[in-house]
Amino acid sequence: EVQLSVSKRGLFRRLFDETTTETTTCEWEDCLDDTLGDRLQAMGISRRGFMQFCAGMASLMALPPSMGPAMAATLLAMPAKPSVLYMSFQECTGCLESLVNSFPSTRANSTSIENLILNLISLDYQETLMAAAGEQAESWRNQLIQHPGYVLIVDGSIPVIRQNGVFLPSPYFVSGGQSGVERLRSAAENAGLVIAVGTCASFGGLPKADPNPTGAVSIGDLLVNLGLGSKPLINVSGCPPIAEVITGVILYYLTQGKAPELDNHHRPKMFYGETIHDECYRKEFFERELFAERFDDANARKGYCLLHLGCKGPVSHNACSTVKWNQGTSFPMQSGHGCLGCAEPDFWDLNLGSGKGFYVPLPPGSFEGD
Ligand code: SF4
Ligand code: F3S
Repeated sequence: EVQLSVSKRGLFRRLFDETTTETTTCEWEDCLDDTLGDRLQAMGISRRGFMQFCAGMASLMALPPSMGPAMAATLLAMPAKPSVLYMSFQECTGCLESLVNSFPSTRANSTSIENLILNLISLDYQETLMAAAGEQAESWRNQLIQHPGYVLIVDGSIPVIRQNGVFLPSPYFVSGGQSGVERLRSAAENAGLVIAVGTCASFGGLPKADPNPTGAVSIGDLLVNLGLGSKPLINVSGCPPIAEVITGVILYYLTQGKAPELDNHHRPKMFYGETIHDECYRKEFFERELFAERFDDANARKGYCLLHLGCKGPVSHNACSTVKWNQGTSFPMQSGHGCLGCAEPDFWDLNLGSGKGFYVPLPPGSFEGD
């Protein structure tokens, strides 16, 4: 039986270890033809392994324990995979790399978590991953967006020309003969949900950093300007975002049929509700006022707090201290570097929390608990 008391930090390692090695014969008698249950059975994933996965995800998302079985039941009975379009604009492809390369296996029949997630959705369009190109790809995209209700995932910011408060198409981004503005408008109009993945899509990111030579704007700002501000939008910020956070948000939407509770930056509170500092294992040194003053001094070697070396953890909201990176292996402070605040608006302009530079300390008294 699943131990829901497992810490978030150890959760994903447990999920990987236990779900991926599960080989017992499963009982799927409750599943109807063409459901997710059938597909997972064909992959050799046991019911027990899947239940463990759902219970673990519920715990990670701070949902009540009863939600694990409820999520599993919803997913197993799901008759069709929701269609997902993933479109890229002004970006570096780091967000997609984070998603597809953060898991141990991408083999077609692997029973690892990433295939579990990819079997929950139908990733119908992704320029980097799909084999189709040119007119064939454009034709496919144009067909897909005729069917309302799909999930639109976007990474990258979009360049615009500002004219009397209106965002007009800019020649800095053109794909398939369409500007970024037109491309987003046509894809967003029929979308049931828009997920902006990465800090560029969520807040403008590096392209928007001063002096913003292309006139880049975030997906949220552009949707509002295009009159699509009522479209449900989730920002999954980070440079890049944590892969498990991206998949967790998708899973929540699939099982709950709605976006999770969001903060004032449209980020899901379940992953961005606490600061990096809140859960940082170096916090005991912070509270005892034990700080590293240089990256190579004796205090740094003792693992003391990195606040004086510019750590922005106290003003940065993300799940790095709990979920960590690379299947729970580590995160910036564990490798000896402070947080840069990569999931916050305008962090590339180096003035997050008025610490004016990546290595400039936050001013005394500038954050709660200081
Ligand atoms: Fe950790 Fe940075 Fe907070 Fe220090 S200031 S406890 S290193 S998050
Ligand atoms: Fe980004 Fe800070 Fe995490 S720089 S990766 S939010 S520790």
